[in-house]
Amino acid sequence: MEACYADRPLITQLDDGDGSGRGYFSSSISMPTTVAMMLAALDPESGGRVLEIGTGTGYNAALLAFRAGTENVTTVEVDPGIAEQARAALKATGWPVNVVTGDGTKGHPPGAPYDRVLSTASVQRVPYAWVEQTAPGGRVVTPWGTAFHNGALLHLRVRADGTAAGRFSGNVGFMWLRDQRTPHGAVEDRVRPEHDYTESTTGLHPYYALSNFDASFAIGLRVPAMKSVVVFDDDNPGSAAYTVYLMDPYVGSWASWRVAPGRDAYTVRQHGPRCLFEELEDAYRWWLDAGEPEHTRFGLTVTSDGQTVWLDTPGAPIGT
Ligand SMILES: C[S@@+](CC[C@H](N)C(=O)[O-])C[C@H]1O[C@@H](n2cnc3c(N)ncnc32)[C@H](O)[C@@H]1O
Repeated sequence: MEACYADRPLITQLDDGDGSGRGYFSSSISMPTTVAMMLAALDPESGGRVLEIGTGTGYNAALLAFRAGTENVTTVEVDPGIAEQARAALKATGWPVNVVTGDGTKGHPPGAPYDRVLSTASVQRVPYAWVEQTAPGGRVVTPWGTAFHNGALLHLRVRADGTAAGRFSGNVGFMWLRDQRTPHGAVEDRVRPEHDYTESTTGLHPYYALSNFDASFAIGLRVPAMKSVVVFDDDNPGSAAYTVYLMDPYVGSWASWRVAPGRDAYTVRQHGPRCLFEELEDAYRWWLDAGEPEHTRFGLTVTSDGQTVWLDTPGAPIGT
């Protein structure tokens, strides 16, 4: 009960339940204040039809049922064991919403059109099915992020022409939709002693690019498929010496960015076809030149051809 009423997320599954022991989070019940913030953004109406992606425990689905009516809520969960558990829990607690076992990327066409679609798993690309299955004037709300930045909340409004647009707000770090994860992998496996590299120095401290929410959000928009991992010299997050690794798991490029106490120049090594540090530095300078925009100034448009991110107005797309 203490855990249920604490304002924190609770992890309910690791490694897609495969028992591998790797320890990656794959299902959870979200932090209650985050759930409330997302429901406020969704603004479901009594009697409106709602589709939730990512049933998890079923907690959020029960809240949606309370607001919209049990018969109006469909929730899709990709993991059959989790779906079954949620189905049973929702039934036992008096909120027997329609729990569908399947890939939420496809939405759930039999229940369409929906007035609201809420994803409780993060995306890098908004599946067009969500827009297509939402009635004009309806809303799609989802955590959205990049390989570099875990994300912000995206609020989309669906238009009569079958497209949707809206802006980002808030700081929401979520688990990814299964097929939109950037591959995991340990630094030791990706950065090998036998790899060749170029070496240079920079005056840019990692703090400015990684710890500033808005800067790192913008860098993620500009530099695709780049993950970062910070490794402290003595396993101590307070350690003065550490290395930031930037990695593209698809092409095998990496960069290391070394911070040592008492130095104001940092050694950078880069390996592979992409010069990841240079890409990051360019993106950071782009953000500075653009006037250091907050993430709330960015928005996104979804059409059947894909998605476009823009700054301030849909007429100003930014390259990714
Ligand atoms: C953060 S949890 C959801 C929390 C949930 N709404 C609750 O109230 O407990 C994310 C869930 O999304 C599920 N998921 C991941 N990829 C999915 C997909 N493609 N389709 C449907 N569910 C997916 C995961 O299995 C996980 O249970």
